[in-house]
Amino acid sequence: MSSAVPLDALRDTHAPRVEPLDVERVRQDFPILQRKIRGKPLVYLDNAASSQRPRVVIEAIRKLYEQDYANIHRGVHTLSQVATEAYENSRDKVRQFIGAADRREIVFTRGTTESINLVANSFARPRLQPGDEILITAMEHHANIVPWQLVCEQTGARLRVAPISDEGILRMEEFARLLTPRTRLVAAVHVSNALGTINPIRRMIELAHAGGIPILIDGAQAAPHLRVNVQQLDCDFYAFSGHKMCGPTGIGVLYGKLAHLEAMPPWQGGGDMINVVTFEKTTYNDPPQRFEAGTPNIEGGIALAPAIDYLLGLGMDRIAAWENELLAYATQCAADIPGLRIIGTAPCKASVLSFVLDCAHPHDIGTILDQEGIAIRTGHHCAQPVMQRFNVPATARASFSFYNTREEVDALFRGLRKVLEVFG
Ligand code: ALA
Repeated sequence: MSSAVPLDALRDTHAPRVEPLDVERVRQDFPILQRKIRGKPLVYLDNAASSQRPRVVIEAIRKLYEQDYANIHRGVHTLSQVATEAYENSRDKVRQFIGAADRREIVFTRGTTESINLVANSFARPRLQPGDEILITAMEHHANIVPWQLVCEQTGARLRVAPISDEGILRMEEFARLLTPRTRLVAAVHVSNALGTINPIRRMIELAHAGGIPILIDGAQAAPHLRVNVQQLDCDFYAFSGHKMCGPTGIGVLYGKLAHLEAMPPWQGGGDMINVVTFEKTTYNDPPQRFEAGTPNIEGGIALAPAIDYLLGLGMDRIAAWENELLAYATQCAADIPGLRIIGTAPCKASVLSFVLDCAHPHDIGTILDQEGIAIRTGHHCAQPVMQRFNVPATARASFSFYNTREEVDALFRGLRKVLEVFG
């Protein structure tokens, strides 16, 4: 089984050869990695659920609260100006991180889920008529299924689903076939959280655009692991979350092409998203503020900038190369565990090893691993249709970050052998 990901084939730009990461040094930047769980060193392999934070992010939040905190966009006083500048600098940082053309294309949200709901409600819903179609894939997270089901219920539109193979690869011929004159929008995941599959989104975007169809990419599991350039991809929308990429929780991003954002009505109403409010008529602010009603996650927005700086400092190509090596090593180790079946065996994967054991339920696997200080996620991973596709109730999922080591992969498999001793 191949998990050595030919990432170059799927990256939006050619990835040059890179110097390896000094993982031991990197680990010093993450205080929590020194923690012990049940007297054993923490082995944190639940990065797809949420990553850990480097000291620079923790310090940025502390400094804000201790020295610079005030509400933003609302005050002439010094603290408000300082906090506003930091928050808006973060928007510039995000623009740079994903290669967007214009800072107005960066909308801050609570996370990927809110970003997708924003597009569903503000972009899709006003355009949808009965009989129109939205196309997703069979490997979507609930966050990229349910918002579309809701707008379909509201408008009479229909949700279509492009199938995946037994390896967890999108069936491109089916995807292409399902792009019809009725398709109003495609919404597809870049990297599957449940399988690890990296989708060929550049090709998917080309195919959608060939039919004049806009496309949203759920990048929650891609932005932390791969170099993303939205201009090169030419996607219409790209959504991701801070908390999966070493940033704060409760902050996320919706990238949208400016022409789309300018044409979209507000979704939520409140402070900051207006120009003039009277009881007779209210006029709305320009993007991105039009979509940022109310006091935002100020600390989250501000501390996203050091998280991005940190990732860029390490280099996304070096991050991808090391995580790829860890995944390949873990996949190789998995072959030696009797009764282990990997769910998601696409040749192009990032960061995720999802599996089941013949002898134990995933929750039992997770519980025994926790006794060893090893954190993985078990369950349906908010992707129940993926579980149904593979006919499993749940999987155990180890998900890797650049701060993980080969020794931690070894610990995972020592832990799995203990599971076999108990249940095998
Ligand atoms: N979507 C996150 C995961 O995959 C929470 O675990």
